Order: sequence, then structure tokens, then C-alpha cells
Amino acid sequence: MINGGVPLKGTVKVSGAKNSALPLLFATLLADGQSTITNVPELRDIRTAVQLLAELGAEVNRQDDSCDIDASQIRGIEAPYELVKTMRASVLVLGPLLARYGRARVSLPGGCAIGARPIDLHLKGLEALGARIHLDHGYVEATAERLIGAKISFDLPTVGGTENLLMAAALAKGETVLENAALEPEIVQLAAALNSMGAKIEGAGTAIIHIQGVDTLQPLNCRVIPDRIEAGTFMIAAAITGGDVVVQNSVRSDLEALIGKLLEAGVGVNEVDQGVHIVAPDKIQPVNIRTSVFPGFPTDMQAQFMALMTRAEGTSRISETVFENRFMHVCELQRMGADIQIDGHSAIIRGVHQLTGAPVMATDLRASASLVLAGLAADNTTEISRIYHLDRGYEKIEEKLAALGARIRREQE
Ligand code: EPZ
Repeated sequence: MINGGVPLKGTVKVSGAKNSALPLLFATLLADGQSTITNVPELRDIRTAVQLLAELGAEVNRQDDSCDIDASQIRGIEAPYELVKTMRASVLVLGPLLARYGRARVSLPGGCAIGARPIDLHLKGLEALGARIHLDHGYVEATAERLIGAKISFDLPTVGGTENLLMAAALAKGETVLENAALEPEIVQLAAALNSMGAKIEGAGTAIIHIQGVDTLQPLNCRVIPDRIEAGTFMIAAAITGGDVVVQNSVRSDLEALIGKLLEAGVGVNEVDQGVHIVAPDKIQPVNIRTSVFPGFPTDMQAQFMALMTRAEGTSRISETVFENRFMHVCELQRMGADIQIDGHSAIIRGVHQLTGAPVMATDLRASASLVLAGLAADNTTEISRIYHLDRGYEKIEEKLAALGARIRREQE
């Protein structure tokens, strides 16, 4: 429940990145002994990942933001449908299980609220490393004696595919070259983490990654990078409410595309010690965006930026190029008085003077965030249901926003 209209003020601290923590948790399957990952956010997706590791036989202990994982006694090789359907990132166990145990059985994820999201490129890459893959009753079954390094050229830069292949190739025999690899900061962190375990990976963060396979890896000790999407969401929260907020732990270089667009919209953005200071403008200027892979404008910020554009003084166009169905928030924003028209893969947004509070429904993680942002700027009360989507990726969001002055509270549905 949000009573909007309060300009947010103060400092908010960004948590560890969900999309970095998930592959790191699964990377611990690659080694015997106890791994420790810190700055792990308390999120529903992290709990799902921990549950999956535990089902595979890993010993997992969480204390505050630290997570100890001992994968010495793995007994299972299966990621069941029940877990994969709640979190697609569960497919990231495929690479590590196959590389280490020569077998993996992972439920095919199926479609999802934002698009078809196949995993064909993960599978093609693993096949190129010598894995035998077949489909059995909705499950991918993969086997290999030992993976053998190969040259893999991705048809498109896939984040999860690059991560799965990095983990698989780390223990393969010989050299693997990944071409057209994803460049996201989460890939760079995973490669650095694998190298700290003894892997030999060069070029992460560029389109071509070289991996010299090794026979064994050591346990992992690392700290998860800050969540650039959570940071970006707070930046927009400050801008849309007419606020003045320091977003602490945000890494500017991970957010250049968003920051460029915020500046174009007239938002004040200044780098400060360990973060970014956001000052809302009197008038929000309309800005066009086109989502793309890193370092382009992140698809995971598209819904939130659209919320901001509903308040702009003029018309903007937002084009989604990464996922084919990522406009589910549009109908809900329209219920709050936003003027948005869908035109194929683009949305045309005519700014309105005032959004009005309304009951709305969350459909996926970032769509929920856009509704929270709209609610913070709207008059009266906005009631957002199905906020379990929000809990997948935003740690204590209502507490963090309330500390900035927002009138927001969680109620039992
Ligand atoms: C990651 O998903 C993120 N998830 C997503 O975050 C994010 O939206 C996405 O990357 C893009 O940045 C995690 O990191 C856990 P992709 P991922 O493979 O790896 C197509 C959030 O809100 N594709 O880079 O699944 C695919 O359909 C989420 O936190 C294939 O065609 O994304 C999509 O159109 C949601 N075949 C495009 O590539 C494949 O085998 C990019 O997907 C793989 C992908």
C-alpha cells in the first residue's frame, strides 16, 4: 500500500546483486570444500537457489548476508520442475554439474511472463563441448565423460548462456573460446570469481572470452557486487518523486546508459563518495530509449524508466529489443492514468500531469518495481497485489523506501 506524493530524501544503500549472486552460488558446485559468499541479498530467488543446492546435497548455511556452501557431498544431479518453474536461473546448474559430475538433469523452463526465453544456446554450447543432450519428459538430460574445449560462437549474447558455458569450460580439457559473449558486469564478476578458484579465464567483459580448462578448482570466497538494477530503481524513485537521494554502493560505470538517459531527462546526477547523488528536476524531459545488451540500456530498467516517462513534459518512445513481451506493466500504468500506446515492440508515452492511485497487479519483477515507482508519484493510495514478484529481486524495498520518507507498507494479501 503506497500513499504517494512524498519527495524522497536521504541515503539508501544498495544490496548485493541478485543476478550476480545466483551464478556465484551455483559456481560453488565446481569445487570440494567450503565456499563463502558475502553480500548475498535476502531475496526469494536466493532462497530458491539455496533450496536447489541443498536438494543436490550441498551443505548450506546462511548468516546475515553471508552464505557458506560446502558442495563436497553432492548426491543429486537434478534441478526439478518445481524449482525451475519458480526461478529460471536454476538452469545455471547445468554447466557446473556436467563439468564436475558428467551428468545433469534439468527441467526445461518453458515460457515466462516476459517472453519465450529458450535455453537453446546454452545447450548448443554444451554440445559443442562434447556433451550428449536429449529431452526426456520435459527435462534436459546431459552427459559427458569429460567436456572438451571448443570454439563457441553465440548467435546472440546471452547472459545465462555465457555463464553456463564459463562454468562448464572452466573444468573442460583444453581451450574454449566463447565468441559474441555477453558483456554484463555479472559476467565479469563470475569470471573473476572462477579465476580466484583457480580457473584460467581471460577476456570477460569483452565479446571474446578464452578459457583454459583446469582439472580441479578451489572453493570460492567472494563478495557479491552491488545490484545495478536496484540502484537504478532507487535513482528513478528519487527522480519521479521530486526527491533528493544519495544511492550508496552504486557503481557508475555499471549504470552509464541509464545515467545518460536520466541526464537527458533533466535529472541531476552527481558522483559522490561510494555512490551517486540524484536530484529531481522541476520538469522531467521526455527521452526515447531502446533496450539492448550491456553496455546499452538494460531491459531490466525499461519498466521503471517508463514509469518516469509517464510524468514527462511531452512524448517519449521506449523500444524493447531483448524480450518480446515485456510490456505487461503498461495496462497497469494505464489504470493509474498513464497515457501509453503500444506500437509493436515500442511504447509511446505521453506524459500526464498527475498519476492517480489505483489497485494494480504485479506481473513480473521489474513490472512490479515500475508500479511501486508510479505509486510513489501518484495521488491517493496505490494498492499493489502479487508483490511476491517484487520479493524475488528487491531486498526490503518497503523498508528502504520508508526510510527515505515514502508512505509505504506491506499488508497481508
Ligand atoms: C538474464 O537473463 C537476467 N537474469 C535477466 O534478469 C535479464 O533480463 C537478462 O539477463 C537480460 O539482461 C539473470 O541474470 C538471472 P539472456 P537470461 O539469456 O540470462 C534469448 C531480472 O528481472 N535467448 O541474456 O535468461 C532470450 O530469449 C531478469 O532480474 C535465446 O534465444 O537472459 C532473450 O531474448 C529477468 N536462447 C535474449 O536471448 C538462449 O539459449 C537475452 O536473454 C538464451 C537466450
